[in-house]
Amino acid sequence: MARILITGASGLLGINLALEAMHEHEVIGIDRGKLKSAPFRVLKADVLKREEINSILDSTKSDWLINCAALANLEKCEEAPLQARILNTDLPRELANACAKRNIPFVHLSTDSVFDGTKEGTYTEEDEPSPPGMYSKTKLDGERAVQETNERAIIARVNFYGWSLGAKRSLAEFFVSNLSEGKNVNGFTDVTFCPMWVNHLAQTLLAMLEKNLSGLYHVVGTQAMSKYQFGVQIARTFGLRESLISPCSVERSSLTAKRSHNLWLSTHKLSTDLGQEIPSISTGLAEFYTQFQQGYPQKIRSYQQV
Ligand SMILES: NC(=O)c1ccc[n+]([C@@H]2O[C@H](COP(=O)([O-])OP(=O)(O)OC[C@H]3O[C@@H](n4cnc5c(N)ncnc54)[C@H](OP(=O)(O)O)[C@@H]3O)[C@@H](O)[C@H]2O)c1
Repeated sequence: MARILITGASGLLGINLALEAMHEHEVIGIDRGKLKSAPFRVLKADVLKREEINSILDSTKSDWLINCAALANLEKCEEAPLQARILNTDLPRELANACAKRNIPFVHLSTDSVFDGTKEGTYTEEDEPSPPGMYSKTKLDGERAVQETNERAIIARVNFYGWSLGAKRSLAEFFVSNLSEGKNVNGFTDVTFCPMWVNHLAQTLLAMLEKNLSGLYHVVGTQAMSKYQFGVQIARTFGLRESLISPCSVERSSLTAKRSHNLWLSTHKLSTDLGQEIPSISTGLAEFYTQFQQGYPQKIRSYQQV
């Protein structure tokens, strides 16, 4: 059993990772005031204050630190580039450094969208990134800052879905809530990605730590699909009307931040080094639906400070 410190514990990954990890580990979440009555220990702190993080690392004697804090909204990163740099580049550098000094294994979350999506076929960890916008630029700089500061760190490029505190953070929630209300939605046919159920991501990150892996990994689902196809899969899993989803191009959407068209990432390095298969999309979607049936979304939302 390890004592795991999680920054960004109120986020889509942070909360689900904390809930998954607490089955086998002791979890301490760092939060700036959004969480209440979570079933794991929560420390209110400002992650951007170096001395606060250092003192938490020392006083809690944490074994692992997983950094889930970020400015992860692409549009907000374009509007507030300085804030994006502080959270996505400077913060990971500080945390990686604090962990390196204390010899604490560190996991940093990056993104599939460091690639511009112009390659045909899959991207491996060897491919040169070419970030298309402020979010992906600051995330790539974050990866590099972590690599320079802490060579033992794990850097995971991810893309995932799950139930979130505010019920709006993931694309899957968008499809479930709109289709449930009989609303028409658009689904992009020209953005390919590899979504992973957030609990599978959490389990994989913990397995990577247990195996003492280090370096850069693509930690995404094994199946590439368009966002439209993902919506259709969600509709079928939940018994909702897939005809409400209109296939369309991302280029015609009102989104302002540039999106990459192909984010098909290879997980070959990950499955080889872990010595295990990465769970399939159908298993993830079935589990995501089981959570829904069991009232997991409401449970998650009840941890939010109102
Ligand atoms: N979601 C995806 O599919 C996806 C795809 C690619 C990469 N990623 C990466 O995965 C990681 C987790 O993403 P996510 O979707 O879980 O993000 P999220 O839901 O937006 O959560 C971000 C977390 O960061 C915290 N945070 C933001 N600004 C902060 C600040 N100024 N001070 C302290 N904490 C702050 C948030 O706290 P508050 O709740 O208080 O705002 C929240 O806990 C990120 O590194 C993201 O770049 C996510």
